[in-house]
Amino acid sequence: MANNLFDFGMVGLGVMGRNLLLNMADHGFKAIGFDKDETKGKLLESSATPGTTVKGVSTLAEMIRALQPPRKLMMLVPAGKPVDDVIRDLLPLLQKGDIIIDGGNSHYTDTLKRIDYLKDTGIHFMGVGVSGGEHGARTGPSIMPGGDAEAYKNVAPVLEAVAAKASGSACVAYMGKNAAGHYVKMVHNGIEYAIMQLISEVYDLLKNGLGLNNDELHKVFKTWNEGEQQSFLIEITRDIFLQKDDKTNNRLVDMILDKAGAKGTGKWTSQDAMDLGIPIGVIDTAVSLRSLSACKDERTQAAALYKTVVHPIEVPKEIFIQQAGDALFFATIICYAQGLSLLHKASSELQMEISLPEVVRIWRGGCIIRSVLLETFYKAYTLSPELPNLLLNAEVAQLLQKKLLHTRTVILHATQAGYPIAGLMSALSYFEGYRTGKLPTNLIQAQRDYFGAHTYQRIDMQGTFHTEWQAH
Ligand code: 6PG
Repeated sequence: MANNLFDFGMVGLGVMGRNLLLNMADHGFKAIGFDKDETKGKLLESSATPGTTVKGVSTLAEMIRALQPPRKLMMLVPAGKPVDDVIRDLLPLLQKGDIIIDGGNSHYTDTLKRIDYLKDTGIHFMGVGVSGGEHGARTGPSIMPGGDAEAYKNVAPVLEAVAAKASGSACVAYMGKNAAGHYVKMVHNGIEYAIMQLISEVYDLLKNGLGLNNDELHKVFKTWNEGEQQSFLIEITRDIFLQKDDKTNNRLVDMILDKAGAKGTGKWTSQDAMDLGIPIGVIDTAVSLRSLSACKDERTQAAALYKTVVHPIEVPKEIFIQQAGDALFFATIICYAQGLSLLHKASSELQMEISLPEVVRIWRGGCIIRSVLLETFYKAYTLSPELPNLLLNAEVAQLLQKKLLHTRTVILHATQAGYPIAGLMSALSYFEGYRTGKLPTNLIQAQRDYFGAHTYQRIDMQGTFHTEWQAH
């Protein structure tokens, strides 16, 4: 009888849920999925690889009855209330020892509440980040599980089987206690926002500053993707330039409105970094710039008011392309450094015990921010697992030093010609600020003490001081 029971259940058969479940079935697990919408269950079954065991049902009770205890099930439903609704519906159907995984992009504080809510029921709850989009879910995502360590042992064989593989190891690992899985995924998305912002800025410079057409842009990104900046985001950008629009004769990218959407994970990263006092300026900038992009009507009015023109960048093409590539590489490293420094701090502040070597190891494959750079970062954290900031690693320092001059040059040309490059500038300023032992913040302390008696410390003696400042 037990042989007829299913190994894994999925709640929510949208494209992510369906693809991940099919991926499990491809690895020999008997997979069952529930969705109220019967057509989704049917689509699940018809998309299954022949010879695999896959079933779609339209009631939760039917799915729960068909699962092998202790039941292992994941929900991939929109974050927020739908997750709580599913938990409420599942509770009367489950037994002690069963495992519920929330695989969506839930806010980590919601995950903490859910862990607390379920703690006396004997039902295990895990918040798990899944990255890789639709295609990744089907062929191998990067998976970031956190929370109940006992439960993780039970689901690890399934997750390890379906995860992407990088340098021979599965891109999944126990991220840490409490809501560590969702926290790591949130920061992953913050880094994702930042790198996407940087790529869009460099695209603007190459397209409008240098006048490259889409075929030329494709070639530039193709070349970059064959070298030290090989990454998923550079790779898809390369391909985007070739996509034809099916409604006009143009390339699709040129027909897309310049208003970026956002579901919130980038903003959450910034909000949390502010709370923890960790500077992640490029991520903050990326979040703000998406909001700026959304003010399309105001921007259009302002363009008319200011008679905005951007100027050509007067540097030989081949030279500027090389410089822009270096600037992008430099700033991309800063994005990872900022995100990982946030994880370092959050790990102890929120008692998650996150292993940074494991984080970068599992980001090497399957996820949206995968990149060959992660190999260098993996080495850095393996050498020094408690590294507070990647910028303190000698190999990373060397990479940044090599690209510094070109980063400055690109920013100089771009600002002179009138391009908005807040992400690149933020990355450079962070670097310059981080690597100096002397900032002008002494003046801020003087001002604070002047108007508010907020006190200051001195460079020459211990203690806290206040001065009755004289108005001159
Ligand atoms: C991933 C992506 C995924 C998703 C984001 C996009 O890792 O697979 O990050 O989680 O595409 O939700 O977020 P925005 O809609 O906020 O850009």
